[in-house]
Amino acid sequence: MSIPSILLSLLGLALCALVEAHSGKSTYYPPRAKCVEYLIPVSVSTPVLVWNTTKWEDNYGLVDYVSVDSTRVDAGFPGPVTTSPEPYTGSFKVAATFCTPKHPKNGREKTVLLASHGLGFDRGYWNSAYEPEKYNFVQFAIDQGYSVFFYDRIGTGKSSIGLSGFVNQGAIQVKVLGSLASLVKSGKYTSSIGTPKSLVLVGHSFGSFISNALVAESPKSADAVILTGIAYAGVAATTNEAFDLHVASLQNPRKWSNRDPGYVTWGDVYANINTFFKKPLYTVGAVEFTDATKQPFAIAELVTVGLLNFDASKFTGPALYLNGEFDFLICGGYCPGVADQPARTFFSGSRNFQTRIQPNTGHGLNFHKNAIDSYTIITDFLQSTGF
Ligand SMILES: *[C@@H]1O[C@H](CO)[C@@H](O)[C@H](O)[C@H]1NC(C)=O
Repeated sequence: MSIPSILLSLLGLALCALVEAHSGKSTYYPPRAKCVEYLIPVSVSTPVLVWNTTKWEDNYGLVDYVSVDSTRVDAGFPGPVTTSPEPYTGSFKVAATFCTPKHPKNGREKTVLLASHGLGFDRGYWNSAYEPEKYNFVQFAIDQGYSVFFYDRIGTGKSSIGLSGFVNQGAIQVKVLGSLASLVKSGKYTSSIGTPKSLVLVGHSFGSFISNALVAESPKSADAVILTGIAYAGVAATTNEAFDLHVASLQNPRKWSNRDPGYVTWGDVYANINTFFKKPLYTVGAVEFTDATKQPFAIAELVTVGLLNFDASKFTGPALYLNGEFDFLICGGYCPGVADQPARTFFSGSRNFQTRIQPNTGHGLNFHKNAIDSYTIITDFLQSTGF
């Protein structure tokens, strides 16, 4: 090896180390929290929808799928999954973090917020290592006295990633969340606080849809729900096109060669902005952080999430819907007018149902400049409803 090539290799190593550090691999913990890591075995058994069109191997196949999927219904193209479900059983390991205040106040630490992230993230969505005083939900909630349990959904982060992206779907993720909810409720995986007094499901986007579906299926599984970045009536026809989807293992083999081609990711930082952010309501630094730490998602998650059952009218606890005013992904760029119904009907049994539109925010609420205002709405709602 010549001297210049050794220098280049060293530079390469240093750059890799920088990227690793930047991509959140060195775990951040809020300073006033005690945090514990868990790896939790979970088995699920549920009906699933089966992929019933070509499974692509490359980006040519993927873009053709997106094009067919985004074509006006008049063309009569068949849907990508079967309409009748089939039985499925699987076992996974779920990587999770439980944080509780170092100095508890008012017994509030006995209320555990169980947070489910959306597509394109892992549990780091809730626990930003980037400017945590501005963007870290866990840190904010801890400082309000709450405990937080947050986890990598199957297919992301340090949880099991072996399930095919053509199979990993809404119904499976609802069952995983249901298992976690009952384990946490029973005082497992809650470190020093023992059995919680109450359990609150908190979601973002896909994480909100599965939280909604869980209390629809099992109304007693939580005491309150906070759903952010969720609506049912306003999704634009161009949503999936706007992602500029790529096969994840081809885009970044170093990180994702262990996932099958059913795992996809957006094309670049501008596709990330196009779907999750609204100018000038973000900083480039925050966007670049989310892009450097992004996670692939399963195409079957995207396809099946809208097919879950959201009628949670048997759920009686408080429910808050919190949406960004300029959310492209679930409101076609503007939430007022499409965020209240049918949410209100789905939660007609709730003893306190509220929808809030957070001004000056897009879909990725936790990484817009006013993220703290969203967090404040959430904890104010919890306090006003007795948690
Ligand atoms: C699978 O797709 C084919 C072709 O579109 C269709 O004829 C068939 O009914 C589908 N199967 C199921 C079980 O939905």
